[in-house]
Amino acid sequence: MAGDSSPAEEFWEPHHAASQPGTGGPGPVLVEAVGALTPGDALDLGCGGGGDALWLAEKGWTVLTVDVSATALARVADRAASAGVTDRVRTQRHDLDATFPQGRFDLISAQFLLSPVPFDRAAMFGRAAAALRPGGVLLIADHASVAPWSWADPDTVFPSPDELLTGLSLDSELWEDVRAENRDRVSDGPGGQRATVTDTVLTLTRRAEP
Ligand SMILES: C[S@@+](CC[C@H](N)C(=O)[O-])C[C@H]1O[C@@H](n2cnc3c(N)ncnc32)[C@H](O)[C@@H]1O
Repeated sequence: MAGDSSPAEEFWEPHHAASQPGTGGPGPVLVEAVGALTPGDALDLGCGGGGDALWLAEKGWTVLTVDVSATALARVADRAASAGVTDRVRTQRHDLDATFPQGRFDLISAQFLLSPVPFDRAAMFGRAAAALRPGGVLLIADHASVAPWSWADPDTVFPSPDELLTGLSLDSELWEDVRAENRDRVSDGPGGQRATVTDTVLTLTRRAEP
């Protein structure tokens, strides 16, 4: 990533550096959506600890992981080496508010790519749409409720699935099999805490070219 550090990097790099390296597995949204797909090229936007990327690589996907934090990416690379999947996991640092990776993908996943640092998600998902091959899947998971241990403001009002989809301003002509829904899951937090939280999940398949 070229240029000076951005507000996103200034927030997220110390956040990751102060956290223990991730050891977790993939998120349930990803597993459910991707389990039946034929492996190809995947792009993991805001990869965090890398549990999704490792799982995808172990399933045979070639994964480009992107994050604004160099620490997060170095840890994903370490995990890929330990798992013996370095040939299928690449890392690239981007502030996705400013730059987007080159390439075309069969799957673009953005799992909880949310930030207290404002960024233009509609513009970023527009770039993601353009980077999907025909038949490729765009999978987005956002929070629809706040876990008690979350840094998010407990008074946050989350958009409904339809509001989230509309807010991304994706060109409806490009997509088929569009699903926008809420899903509950049990989440584990620090100190053995558990809570049921709700996610908003958007799944869109890019139409084959006419
Ligand atoms: C809430 S975490 C989610 C991590 C992971 N996808 C997961 O499901 O656990 C958000 C991630 O997005 C990254 N991120 C936030 N803003 C970003 C930006 N503008 N560009 C690139 N990555 C960003 C953060 O560093 C962090 O790893």
